[in-house]
This record gives sequence, C-alpha cells and structure tokens, in this order.
Amino acid sequence: PKIAVLISGSGTNLQSLIDATSSGFVPAEIVIVISNVGKAYGLTRAKQAAIKTLVIRHSSYQTRQLFDNALHEALVEAEVDVVCLAGFMRILTEDFVNKWRGKLINIHPALLPAFKGTHAQRQAIEAGVTVAGCTVHFVEPEIDNGAIITQETVHVSPDDTEETLIEKIKTVEHVAYPKALKLLVTNKITLDLKSGKLRRN
Ligand code: GRF
Repeated sequence: PKIAVLISGSGTNLQSLIDATSSGFVPAEIVIVISNVGKAYGLTRAKQAAIKTLVIRHSSYQTRQLFDNALHEALVEAEVDVVCLAGFMRILTEDFVNKWRGKLINIHPALLPAFKGTHAQRQAIEAGVTVAGCTVHFVEPEIDNGAIITQETVHVSPDDTEETLIEKIKTVEHVAYPKALKLLVTNKITLDLKSGKLRRN
C-alpha cells in the first residue's frame, strides 16, 4: 500500500513511520509527505529519506473546502491508499473525511476519549492523572473521535510538567503509530463504515 503522511511540524512521528516502513516492520511505502507549513522540519526528514514532499499552504486558499480539495487531489494524484495525520494542525472538512473514511488515521497525545483538542498533555497535568498516553484512531468528521486502533500509556510522576509529559508521551507515540499502521495495512483491522466501530479481522 501507498501511504501519505500529513504534517505541520517537527515530524518525529513521521520519522517513526519512515523507520518502520524502511525496516519492513510496516509493509508499505510512504510515497508522499504533505505539509501545510513550508518550514516544517518534517519536510527535511522526508527529503533525507528520498520521499517526495509537497507544501500546500492553507493560507493560499480562501476556504477550508478549497484547501481540502487541493489536498484530496494531491493524494489521488499520488495514488495514495492510506493517509496518516502526524501532527497535522488543520481541521479537515466533513467532505474530505468522508472521502477517506476508513483509510485516514490520526495520532493524539492523550488516552482518548479523555483530553480531546489542543494541549492534551497540559489538560492531563491539570487533571492530576497518574496515567497518560497516546491514541491512534480512525478519523471521523467530529474531531478526536473515531474508532481506537492502538493506545500506549505512560506513568505521570508528581514532578512531571507539561514539557516533560510531552516528551514522555512522544516516546510511546513512536511505538504506537507504526503498530497501528501495520495493523491497518496488513488488514488485521478495518473500520466498519456503517457502525463506525473497529473490526478485528
Ligand atoms: C504529536 O504529539 C501528536 O500526537 C500531535 O502532534 C504532535 C506531533 O509531533 N498530534 P511530531 O511533529 O510528530 O514530532
């Protein structure tokens, strides 16, 4: 299968997916990395791995719809089968999500359904939880919703801060995302489009 990874930033999760595909742990090929931000460091990571990159600046489009159309066209053009959101900081339209439903996954730095939205790690610190983690899930039109594929946990110690928790969670994100992608591309799991629930095959 052909994978696209969508990023906006440093791309450490992208790196974990590059490593997992090039080692053969995930039997798939990342054919394109798309960023909505021109200076995202993840673009450099992709270039270093000889993966095609594309910048589609959201600021160049008047509406979300037009931006998502450009994104969709680029994915179709690259003959992409699966789209991984990896720190992609744009909300996607319902229309776009429906076109890719079942083939579109995201990683969120919290144990969903807890702490949706931005600053999930700060929310976790403020809530005083002792266990935190990350979730890889299918994308649904409603943000940070969708069937859960994998989760990994970390322990939160009393001296953890938002910054240390971000780093702690990132180390397990880099384990969770390749695992989830492997399950998807090897057809071990699928999204039941009718119920929105995960099906283990
Ligand atoms: C990760 O924490 C991810 O869970 C969140 O954005 C961050 C991206 O980090 N959605 P990176 O660019 O992969 O390093």
